[in-house]
Amino acid sequence: MTAGYGGGDILHELDLSVEEGGITCIVGPNGAGKSTVLRVVSGLLRPRLGTIRFRGAAIAGLSPRAILQRGIVQVPQERSLFPTMTVWENVRMGAYTVHDSAVIERRLQQVCETFSIVRERRHEPAASLSGGQQKIVEFARALMLEPALLILDEPSMGLDPKTRTTVFDTIRAMNQAGRTILLVEQNARSGLGLASHGVVMESGRIRLEGPGPTVLNNPEIGRLYLGATA
Ligand SMILES: Nc1ncnc2c1ncn2[C@@H]1O[C@H](COP(=O)(O)OP(=O)(O)O)[C@@H](O)[C@H]1O
Ligand SMILES: [Mg+2]
Repeated sequence: MTAGYGGGDILHELDLSVEEGGITCIVGPNGAGKSTVLRVVSGLLRPRLGTIRFRGAAIAGLSPRAILQRGIVQVPQERSLFPTMTVWENVRMGAYTVHDSAVIERRLQQVCETFSIVRERRHEPAASLSGGQQKIVEFARALMLEPALLILDEPSMGLDPKTRTTVFDTIRAMNQAGRTILLVEQNARSGLGLASHGVVMESGRIRLEGPGPTVLNNPEIGRLYLGATA
């Protein structure tokens, strides 16, 4: 698949597969095209050439809403909760394409069981939560659609190390509960450490890919992205 914005191509004949049931993690420097890959998958950007297949069906060119309805849900890089609405209202809003109120109630109960922060802070405005707590609530909101593919763009950005660990633990738990995850991470070590499949992108191309730990232990990648070997 080839894609870009106005002036030129950003992604050059990129060929990427996301294994069902796994965590696929894309790492790479700023500007490599990681978010652009996610935008193409979620329908915000149409590829110039090539196809995107989801469970066998071509989805390139469908509207973001149509793609959402197939179960591909993205948590964006920037904060995206409505700050003055309560935690509960934000989470409930995740199910805006669901019209069966019994289904909504059941899912609300499930996310409350999974995420204590949703249960404990449900009546407070989203803006009163820390950055890491807000990210967890964004995950909870995304799960209201029971996504077949959950896309996370740099979920650990701007968080302190302890909160980051909580966010990564939550990603692992969502995967163990059956969610297929496509993750973009600046924090290459943590992202690849979690990943069943790791992808290193550079200048709109895949530079290296393989099982997460293999990519993590690649000496060249270690030198380029992970700093001095630990
Ligand atoms: N809306 C846009 N319009 C034009 N160029 C863009 C737009 N968004 C991103 N780009 C460019 O595309 C390239 C890849 O960006 P992006 O996918 O956001 O990289 P990454 O997520 O890996 O940091 C960058 O050179 C960036 O400047
Ligand atoms: Mg990005």
